[in-house]
Amino acid sequence: MSKLSVPVRKFDAVIVGAGGSGLRAAIQLSEAGLKTAVLSKVFPTRSHTVAAQGGVSASLGNSEEDHWHWHMYDTVKGSDWLGDQDAIEYMCRKAPEVVVELEHFGMPFDRTDEGKIYQRPFGGHMSNFGEKPVRRACAAADRTGHAMLHALYQRNVRANTQFFVEWMALDLIRDQSGQVLGVIALEMETGEVVAFHSKATVFATGGAGRIYYSSTNAFINTGDGLGMAARAGIALEDMEFWQFHPTGVAGAGVLITEGVRGEGGILRNSTNERFMERYAPNAKDLASRDVVSRAMVTEINEGRGCGPNKDFVLLDITHLDPATIMKRLPGIREISIQFAGIDPIKAPIPVVPTCHYQMGGVPTNYKGQVVGDDAAPIRGFYAAGEVACASVHGANRLGTNSLLDLLVFGKASGDTVIDDLRSGEIGLKELPADYADRTLARLHRLNTQTGGASVNECRLELQRTMQKHCGVFRFKDMLVEGVAKIVEVEKAVAQTEIKDKSQVWNTARVEALELDNLIEVAKATMVSAEARKESRGAHVRDDAPDTPANPNGRDDLNWHKHTLWHRDGSRLSYKPVIMKPLSVETIALKTRSY
Ligand code: FUM
Repeated sequence: MSKLSVPVRKFDAVIVGAGGSGLRAAIQLSEAGLKTAVLSKVFPTRSHTVAAQGGVSASLGNSEEDHWHWHMYDTVKGSDWLGDQDAIEYMCRKAPEVVVELEHFGMPFDRTDEGKIYQRPFGGHMSNFGEKPVRRACAAADRTGHAMLHALYQRNVRANTQFFVEWMALDLIRDQSGQVLGVIALEMETGEVVAFHSKATVFATGGAGRIYYSSTNAFINTGDGLGMAARAGIALEDMEFWQFHPTGVAGAGVLITEGVRGEGGILRNSTNERFMERYAPNAKDLASRDVVSRAMVTEINEGRGCGPNKDFVLLDITHLDPATIMKRLPGIREISIQFAGIDPIKAPIPVVPTCHYQMGGVPTNYKGQVVGDDAAPIRGFYAAGEVACASVHGANRLGTNSLLDLLVFGKASGDTVIDDLRSGEIGLKELPADYADRTLARLHRLNTQTGGASVNECRLELQRTMQKHCGVFRFKDMLVEGVAKIVEVEKAVAQTEIKDKSQVWNTARVEALELDNLIEVAKATMVSAEARKESRGAHVRDDAPDTPANPNGRDDLNWHKHTLWHRDGSRLSYKPVIMKPLSVETIALKTRSY
């Protein structure tokens, strides 16, 4: 039994991450009078939610008829039937409530002429169970995430949430029974290590899009929550499913919102053809993201790409009224000018699919509780937002369901913590004697390692491997080779050396600690993808093609199930998809077409 220890601070609840889900959970907890700490690697309003552009979905029906049940149908279909229908019903039913609540927190939504929240169409959002596009994305111009984050942060200031800014959580603390008792964290500026001992721990650490070379994700999105959970023996769910957003600026990866197509933007190939009419005759440019991304890559692969290297397609809004562009898409115009050198009022924007979102994550139920392999809640542990797999997105997420997810499940996790505290289900338990050992051993290795690979080189190798071996289209041999390569990278990561031990020591150390998390996510992704021998949603393999008899390449008989990746032995297990909603009838499996 070890005697290594670090200073301890005690809280009712510790939330790791100050993006939308963390801030929404914190409001619930702080307003209930609980002593709540929020740890964040960056100032809260710089969290990655700030980059969300096009909107948050809710069937408000402000401009035309809409219904939560249609939203639920679209989400199940978008997920290629891998989403859990209890959680999807919960999210879609709650959507109007959490959006109106946000409005009351001061969120500056755009308005219709009647003063209602402005809504625009988005990919895969349809009326009447898949009939035609519907206006469901509630928007603040093309800066919805930015506006949301500020509204949530201000509400937390009012509620006296305690923020620990520029603190990185390093490891979960669990006791013998498996209960979670908090986290060990590092103050990034000083290097001080502290245990945040709490009755409840909520992970809201966001995604891990930085496992790919080309990503719309911020540099902070390194899968810290996933790495911590995996090291603490918690399996990661459905990690093979990664969303490639169709419209990243070619060469830069910066996001161009789907709201551009919602406002009437059109994708064109080198012959100026609106090629989505061939791939999705009904929804066209507003088909779901996996469908549009694959269509774009197919156009490029078949020689109809644009530019000298024929390696991008064009997003055209030159036919829109410049006043609409300036009012509804001002940020996009700015991004296009800065990153592509093109004013979209005058010329189309060069775009390519870019890694955007992880559908998988830490397994949770719709109450925000993290669950073990037996679906039983892990006491004291909750998660919400992109780090969590509820699973509402299944094999492919619909645009604007991410901001909805973080509001609904951020709030739900806060409410569940309150219930669990009141019922005595959780409380402040004694820390185990070895609570800091694993973390201090990791830090010691980094402090003393010599002769290892550089952190930067390892990260680049990891990102290039993921990009090449596990992208929009996946190939059997490349996946097998990808697993072997990631195992090699993993060995190098275990011995990285911080080369520059000068004044940027702590920054370099944080990057090394982040790499420990990236490698867990990359390995979980590659191993899970290699094993899933079907095509579903964003996971499309050459050896599971579409055929007239099976137009989606899916194998429901053998693969309609969730993957669980266990770090110990890199082992996989599977669990059933929850097909039974909370109150309505099951949306039965069928072929997905737009
Ligand atoms: O295209 C977008 O504005 C992104 C939205 C989302 O990922 O939900």
